[in-house]
Amino acid sequence: MAKRDTSFICQSCGAAYTRWQGKCEACGAWNTLAEEVAVVASVPAAQRSGRKGRSVALETLQGTATPAPRMVCGIGELDRVAGGGFVPGSVLLIGGDPGIGKSTLLVQASAALAASGQRVIYVSGEEAVDQVRLRAQRLGLEQAPVSLAAETNAENIIATLSGGPPVHMVVIDSIQTMWSDSVESAPGTVTQVRTSAQLLVRYAKQTGACVILVGHVTKDGQIAGPRVVEHMVDAVFSFEGDGGHQFRILRAQKNRFGPTDEIGVFEMTGRGLSEVANPSELFLSNRDAGAPGTAVFAGMEGTRPVLVEIQALVAPSSLGTPRRAVVGWDPNRLSMVLAVLDARCGVRLGGHDVYLNVAGGLRIGEPAADLAVAAALVSSLTGAPLPADAVYFGEASLTGAVRQVAQAAARLKEAAKLGFARAVLPSGGLDGVDAQVSLQSVGSLAELVAAIAACAPRRPAMRDSRGGGEREQRPRAVEHTEWADDEAG
Ligand code: TYD
Ligand code: MG
Repeated sequence: MAKRDTSFICQSCGAAYTRWQGKCEACGAWNTLAEEVAVVASVPAAQRSGRKGRSVALETLQGTATPAPRMVCGIGELDRVAGGGFVPGSVLLIGGDPGIGKSTLLVQASAALAASGQRVIYVSGEEAVDQVRLRAQRLGLEQAPVSLAAETNAENIIATLSGGPPVHMVVIDSIQTMWSDSVESAPGTVTQVRTSAQLLVRYAKQTGACVILVGHVTKDGQIAGPRVVEHMVDAVFSFEGDGGHQFRILRAQKNRFGPTDEIGVFEMTGRGLSEVANPSELFLSNRDAGAPGTAVFAGMEGTRPVLVEIQALVAPSSLGTPRRAVVGWDPNRLSMVLAVLDARCGVRLGGHDVYLNVAGGLRIGEPAADLAVAAALVSSLTGAPLPADAVYFGEASLTGAVRQVAQAAARLKEAAKLGFARAVLPSGGLDGVDAQVSLQSVGSLAELVAAIAACAPRRPAMRDSRGGGEREQRPRAVEHTEWADDEAG
């Protein structure tokens, strides 16, 4: 016997409650509970039939079957993020802001795969078939043998896929529009999204087709719908970028079949997304070389070195609590670098607003950026521009020492390739590395600060923020440091 059961389900994490409440106890989100009706069997099916379950044959880790090869679509940046092509039978979730280019990327990938002889089905739950065709025309891909459908019912989709020759790839755009007959709640609710995703995951595992789900992103950047969808799929990619820039970054957040630190860089053009093979050139294209407060960081994104400009602005604050604004880096990491500069190097920034920006909209997660951030901060504070032909990398420890970071050789090689002549880096760890740039090793942040301050204009003409007029002196914040006057020569 089945009974109708009303429950309140958090639309953010999927937790269920019997009564409405303002806050979800499970994930802490406010106003996310929505009423959903589910038909549940009052006695679990297994109990009703008195079935005990059957034992399954156990296998060894060593298998004899060779897995199907990965499907390479030919869009290099996408294949690399996927771990060298799509794995048959896997399910991928791609999330991103509206209008970022998810549908464009997937139409391009579908067309490329279909052109290589795979059977690809593109199911749009958001757009009519004509709209998908229009996009394909704009991309010049209307000749590609992709099969289209505009459908939102998961059972209908699976029935369609199950008939006919085997399917290699299915794109579901988007999972939030899907609904299943087996649950009664409205389309878009957690229960519907979860059930539809479950059906599609089961389809992928049973048939060996690769299923790509498009997921919407909420205001705070989470993939909307239950987090459980993220747990159900094999890989979660996010497609990022900001309105002011033409380029987009595909980043793997989870990948059961590949690395999670690779990024794919694309540029949105009038004819769809084009791959950016050398992101460093792109990120450094509009550099303000020679301006104080900018440092070039030689970073790594997965296996690929990426050079980006770090910009800092340090200005006297008129606020009781000075502002710290960061774009593209971890604000906690900035606080740490500021604290180390203060405690170990005597650089006092307590009375200054600090703004930090990673140029070009890239988001850096590496602690190796500490040295470049510190250099940009001190450069902005002292008004001393950093050498335009230098790159920086190294991790700062709380003691003020600069630590070695991984893959120094790859970073140096990329710097040399882009015409940089020197690198400021932690000492040691470079045995056998044939560096084509001159190396300037620093053991501590204090050494770095001293080197930058030595190049600062002796008497910088500083505009006093309070009095107006020119102030003929060093910036106050570095006046009291031990090295300020005696070591500078
Ligand atoms: P779309 O793929 O529809 O985004 P999503 O599916 O993530 O919501 O991309 C829409 C944006 O991309 C839209 O603002 C127009 C732009 N665009 C181009 O600039 N060039 C193109 O060739 C295409 C197809 C779209
Ligand atoms: Mg779309």
